[in-house]
Amino acid sequence: MIIQRSNLFSIKKYEKQFRDAGLAQGYESIRKISQLYLLRHSALNEIGTKLENLDDEYSANFDHNPIHHMEERMKEPGSLLGKISRKQIPVDTNDLFGNIYDIAGIRVITNYLDDIIKVRDALVKQSDVTVIKEKDYINHPKPNGYRSYHLIVSVPVFQDEGVQEAPVEIQIRTVGMDTWASLEHDLRYKSFADQEKADQYAAELAQYANALFGIEENMQRIFTGLQSENDEHQS
Ligand code: GTP
Ligand code: MG
Repeated sequence: MIIQRSNLFSIKKYEKQFRDAGLAQGYESIRKISQLYLLRHSALNEIGTKLENLDDEYSANFDHNPIHHMEERMKEPGSLLGKISRKQIPVDTNDLFGNIYDIAGIRVITNYLDDIIKVRDALVKQSDVTVIKEKDYINHPKPNGYRSYHLIVSVPVFQDEGVQEAPVEIQIRTVGMDTWASLEHDLRYKSFADQEKADQYAAELAQYANALFGIEENMQRIFTGLQSENDEHQS
């Protein structure tokens, strides 16, 4: 399974976007920010490769692959600027974006519910992966119904000048959770200017998230049942 990569890294493209977004003035600061983006992008490549290797291993050795597909993205400079001003995140000139962890992101979509923790464990137990933050929105869904497993990890990136740790945001969720999140995002964006409309559909959307979760619990039950029947046949 090849990762779907959106907005592929181009340092020239980012340098222009940073300039346009007013995020950096002057050649030196634009270069600094671009180098930082490059580091985050390299960290994303490292994590992406780890997940692709796991995916290959599951396909080769087991009759079930937990990974359905994966998506990678780098945060657009404009949206980074929006986040900095919206959340009033202090930008430290020595550690630019040091407390912004989602510049590089990867989403892993799994087939079944139990696959989420399988992927999480396989990644976290690797000796060069450090967990910075972890949020379990599956056992603790958001009030709007959002479910997903969120991880911020850091990995070492080997550059010409030496090694540096850099963070990557990982979201692990089932096909059902992904469908819901993507449509909810779309609907929220569409009703974004009209709070009354947004409130109107909120409860309904939460209900659908729960319904989907119920369906996926049942699919899991069927899958687990079939798998243990197969195991019995083979032994
Ligand atoms: P940010 O700093 O904005 O990323 O928020 P946070 O640090 O509180 O992180 P959180 O784990 O809540 O969310 C991070 C990401 O998860 C978002 O950028 C979305 O991609 C996704 N996400 C979180 N909540 C929702 C939600 O209610 N709906 C959808 N569609 N996506 C969500
Ligand atoms: Mg985010």
